[in-house]
Amino acid sequence: MIKVLFVCLGNICRSPMAEYIFKDMVKKEGIEEKFYIDSAGTSPDEESPVYYGTRKKLQQMGIKCGNHTARKITKQDYETFDYIIAMEEKNIVNIKRIVGEDKENKIYKLLDFTDNPRDIADPWYTGNFDKTYDDITEGLEGFMKYLKKICC
Ligand code: 4NP
Repeated sequence: MIKVLFVCLGNICRSPMAEYIFKDMVKKEGIEEKFYIDSAGTSPDEESPVYYGTRKKLQQMGIKCGNHTARKITKQDYETFDYIIAMEEKNIVNIKRIVGEDKENKIYKLLDFTDNPRDIADPWYTGNFDKTYDDITEGLEGFMKYLKKICC
């Protein structure tokens, strides 16, 4: 089982969008039983539901959005998950403040799995959930390619 945790700041916009798009991708590939997928934030408003903008975009794209509620990443998550995938560089700094050093090289930035590594802008501030969706999908496709090379 491959355990993947997507991480952003608030865990209501970007990381739950990545969580649900990736759940949809592995389901369509017929490999969902190989994965455990979740999301968390570095500074969430605990138990907040997935933000309307993310919900609406997922619905528009025909992707099922579950009932994730915001939670803060923990030290235990670092032990539990194989891949901890951040949306932007600042997330990585904050993740390390919580979990400590990345001794097992589990922490990645989503768009590092593409040919054009960069941060994913926060739609909480930009309001552009279409761009967030496109960036996240590009990153997840790169991540899936990477996984297929090494394991599935
Ligand atoms: P996210 O976006 O990190 O993509 O979930 C944010 C959501 C809420 C806040 C900041 C970013 N906030 O400050 O409440």
